[in-house]
Amino acid sequence: MRLRRLPLKGALPAAQQSRIRGGRLVLNRKEFAMYTQAMDQQPKEERERKPVRSVEEVELERRFDAKIDAGDFIEAKDWMPEHYRKTLLRQISQHAHSEIVGMLPEGNWITRAPTLKRKAILLAKVQDEGGHGLYLYAAAETLGTSRDQMIDALHAGKAKYSSIFNYPTLSWADIGTIGWLVDGAAIMNQVPICRCSYAPYARAMIRICREESFHQRQGFDSLLVMMRDGTPEQRAMVQDAVNRWWWPCLMMFGPPDDQSPNSAQGMRWGIKRVSNDTLRQKFVDATAEQAKVLGVTLPDPLLKWNPEREHHDFGPIDWAEFWRVVGGDGPCNRERLAARVKAWDDGAWVRDAALAHARKQVTKQEAA
Ligand code: 3HC
Repeated sequence: MRLRRLPLKGALPAAQQSRIRGGRLVLNRKEFAMYTQAMDQQPKEERERKPVRSVEEVELERRFDAKIDAGDFIEAKDWMPEHYRKTLLRQISQHAHSEIVGMLPEGNWITRAPTLKRKAILLAKVQDEGGHGLYLYAAAETLGTSRDQMIDALHAGKAKYSSIFNYPTLSWADIGTIGWLVDGAAIMNQVPICRCSYAPYARAMIRICREESFHQRQGFDSLLVMMRDGTPEQRAMVQDAVNRWWWPCLMMFGPPDDQSPNSAQGMRWGIKRVSNDTLRQKFVDATAEQAKVLGVTLPDPLLKWNPEREHHDFGPIDWAEFWRVVGGDGPCNRERLAARVKAWDDGAWVRDAALAHARKQVTKQEAA
């Protein structure tokens, strides 16, 4: 059996590293622990920086900082500080996992879409999310970690994905509401990432954002049809869905700026262009107006235009709920992870077959 070594950088001696055997990850527990630690407990900049660095490293870092300051892009082949690499890997892999796990709540409704048109739209949307996950895994792989490693960290419950996908989709109106609010929040957060300093991530985000705009519009359209032409029961269903998704959507932007451990460094490196709170506020301002067009009420008695700030004020967010969900104890965390692990296990024969086919092609070429 031929073994393929995983491209894990600088961890253990080669003989002790994890390998892929027949398309499956054969894990070295010690190495995996080191890897997931890097993903999970991302050391912050000052802790991460090596106490003693060579003159060459100092010079490389000076050039890197100058590039960032000049607003230039960093490509995969360029030198980068190890913490920049790990920060990107953390964010891009979390983002990729979010796209893939995000297929589940909507996928549940493909067989129950009310019309052929809505089914076709939903199918296209869920496929798009799968595609986004793949672009993002590919972007993350340019940083030297394999897709199998990232997926393994997800399945082991060690990698994060967006809190929003741990909430259930109880009615058809939830699907429109996900499009309008969840994809709306995703676009607000992701458009600035098109200018991220890491070029492979920025390039992936340009295409993703175009597709997310369609996702948001189809959701709004679906709700508008129900609110304008629907029965009182259908309108009540839309309002109920909006009531349940509103607060979790505000949490999508991450903790408040003063409690966000990664923000300062992310902003300094141009990975993050706009802060969590600023994006959240922009989302509230845009959505409050759209809600009026739809004829739904946002479930916040404190939501009010503030002419002095020229923004909407809004009520307090339940951050205890956010951290509970991020920590694995949301309404659907276990179900979502179990569905992903099952899909991975069920797909093992496809990966094995693809590898066997690839090997045959290589043998044929070598023989020719
Ligand atoms: N869900 C789960 N974890 C979250 C979170 C959320 N909504 N918001 C923040 N966190 C986590 C962070 O990942 C970080 O954890 P870590 O340090 O252990 O990795 C911790 O909470 C502290 O948050 P920070 O604000 O310090 O973290 P960041 O600076 O990385 O900012 C972020 C968080 C704004 C989500 C940023 O990572 C980001 O912009 N990521 C890219 C976009 C993304 O991943 N979006 C997910 C949704 S994708 C989507 O919605 C699909 C679409 O099709 C609908």
